[in-house]
Amino acid sequence: MTTLFIATGNAHKVEEIRQVLGGSVTVLSQRDANVRLEVEETGATFRENSGIKAVTWAGYLAVDVCNLGADYVLADDSGLEVDALGGAPGVHSARFAALDDGRKGNSSDAENNAKLLRLLAGVPAGKRTARFRCVLSLTPILHGESPAAMAAATEFFDGTCEGRLLEAPSGAGGFGYDPLFIPEGYDRTFGELGPEVKNRLSHRARALVALRGRWGR
Ligand code: IMP
Repeated sequence: MTTLFIATGNAHKVEEIRQVLGGSVTVLSQRDANVRLEVEETGATFRENSGIKAVTWAGYLAVDVCNLGADYVLADDSGLEVDALGGAPGVHSARFAALDDGRKGNSSDAENNAKLLRLLAGVPAGKRTARFRCVLSLTPILHGESPAAMAAATEFFDGTCEGRLLEAPSGAGGFGYDPLFIPEGYDRTFGELGPEVKNRLSHRARALVALRGRWGR
C-alpha cells in the first residue's frame, strides 16, 4: 500500500486527512515518525507554500538515514479568504494576529478569531462572506534525486468551501476559524457541525477527494 508522510505539525489537519483518506493509503505523521523540521512559508500563494513544504520535506526524507518507508510527502497549505477584507487573512491565516506586532511564528486560534471579529465589526450579515481554501501538494520521495527533480514531479490538488462568518464564536469542534464559519447551505458553524459533516464539505475534504481520484479510489 502507498505510504504518505504528512508534512504538518497541525494535529487537526492530520486527523482530518486520516479520516477522509480512510484505509486507502497508509498515513504517517511527524509525530509517528518522531521527526521535526521548521519550514519557512515564504510563498505568496497557497500553492507556492504548499509546494515549498512538500518539496523541503521530500528533500529531507530522501537523504535521511532514518528511512521511514514513505513513498510521498503530502503537504497542506490552507486558510480563510474574507471578501470584506479583500481576501485577507489568506496565506497569513495561521499568523494573522502576530502580523500586527511583528511576532515570529503562528498566533493562537483565539487571537486570530478575535482580530477577525474586530476587523469585521459593523459589517452586516449579508457582507460577511468568506471561503476556506486548501492546496495539497503530493511530492514523490525520490532517493538519490535532487529537490528540483522532486519539485518537477509534484502534483497539486485544490479544494474550496464557501460560507459566511458569524459575529461571535460558536461551537468547540474543529480548529482555527471553524467556530466562526458557517458553510453554505447550513446554519451552524464547523465548530458545531462536528467532524463527520466537516469532512464531507470542507476545503480539505474536497482537495483530498481529488487526491484520492488520482489513485482511482
Ligand atoms: P497553514 O498551516 O500555514 O496552512 O495555516 C493554516 C491556517 O488556516 C490555520 O492555522 C487556520 O488558522 C486556518 N485554517 C486552515 N484550515 C482550516 C480549517 O479547516 N478550519 C479552520 N481554520 C483553518
